[in-house]
Amino acid sequence: MTGDSVVISGPRPLRGRLRLPGEKGMSHRALVFGAVAHGPTRVRRLAPGDDVARTAAALAQLGVSITREGELTTIVGRGFDALRSPDGSIDCGNSGTTMRILSGLLAGRPFRSVLTGDASLVERPMARVVEPLRAMGARIDGRDGGARAPLEIDGGGLVGCRIELATASGQVKTALAVAGLQARGTTEIVEPAPSRDHTERMLAAIGAPIVRVDARTLRVERGEMSAFSIDLPGDPSSAAFFVVAAAITPGSELVLEDVAINPGRIAFLDVLRRMGADIEVTPRDERLGEPAGDVVVRASALRATTIECHEPFIDEVPALAVAASFAEGVTEFHDAAELRMKESDRIATIAEMLAALGVTAQPRADGLVVRGGRPTAAMVHAHGDHRIALAAAIAANAVAGASTVDDWSSVAVSYPGFLDDLERLTDVA
Ligand code: S3P
Repeated sequence: MTGDSVVISGPRPLRGRLRLPGEKGMSHRALVFGAVAHGPTRVRRLAPGDDVARTAAALAQLGVSITREGELTTIVGRGFDALRSPDGSIDCGNSGTTMRILSGLLAGRPFRSVLTGDASLVERPMARVVEPLRAMGARIDGRDGGARAPLEIDGGGLVGCRIELATASGQVKTALAVAGLQARGTTEIVEPAPSRDHTERMLAAIGAPIVRVDARTLRVERGEMSAFSIDLPGDPSSAAFFVVAAAITPGSELVLEDVAINPGRIAFLDVLRRMGADIEVTPRDERLGEPAGDVVVRASALRATTIECHEPFIDEVPALAVAASFAEGVTEFHDAAELRMKESDRIATIAEMLAALGVTAQPRADGLVVRGGRPTAAMVHAHGDHRIALAAAIAANAVAGASTVDDWSSVAVSYPGFLDDLERLTDVA
């Protein structure tokens, strides 16, 4: 994904109402759980973008019928046993969530499968999911002894056990839960810190034998679940770009309608409030255990803060770093080494983006120090990373003059319609 760029001119206030694309993590889960449930599962507003499309394509390769009609996706599951061996290897593209969740699913199926991905994904760490699956009896191999994809899985014969994870990860926890549903006996998954909890909320709501023992521990038994219906709320990680865009662009007032407001996913809003952002959240309802609501944000002066990053808002750091670059004072991001293992080394790529925008940003081994000020129009490289491209776009929209964001097509993995939404909200100003 090189050689493609967009030019964004600012400053343009954002005004109006926006319904964001459906939540990405819940979309992957709804597809996978629907694929092994019994009966037709109906999902409205599945996340657009290549990551979720990769999960759908992988499940189709395993013999699951997935059809789409407008906003409605129907997945016809016939239980775990109906999955069949795929023809050829499964290409997860840029999607770590696809690869990690499928490794747990396929570790339990009695056939051979191979998971691969693009140049970024085959360099991302997989030992964090391969090793605990091996502890359950899975036969998985891969490059560097299974530390990197392609992963070769000879599935079947899983036995539940107690697993103490070294890394808090929603993806790894989900892989092990899906493996646990296929394993003999009980599987206990213990995390060093809580990670996003969409899996346990959704699985419990659809009748799977999973219980939360405490904030860090899940217990899973072998079992099946029934088909379900869900209207997915908007993605808070995509919302983060518009929340920050409105907060930093004078004259903005924006309503984001029907966003997932799971407390583990909107911690970044508290950080922004602490920085002086004017944000209101109004809860609406709950779907399969997931709260949804509206978020209103108005432009305001921001001030620096210290941010202790943890898994539930690691994806929002690129947007928060842009907020920090418009804030008065020095903002420090701590405890964020995981950023180096995302779609790009985000400590390096965020620092480079901010430097291009004329902001002093110092990378550290596990974080970043950002001296807020007056960013200026720039040429920014996204390094194939959707969240860097989106972060650069909101900074570009807030500063005077024309900026260029290169590698723009990377946004296709999570938010292909971002530019249309930005245009619409800035046009009505
Ligand atoms: C995700 C978990 C997080 C997050 C990723 C999606 C998920 O990754 O960064 O974008 O859907 O469970 P890790 O599991 O690597 O922490």
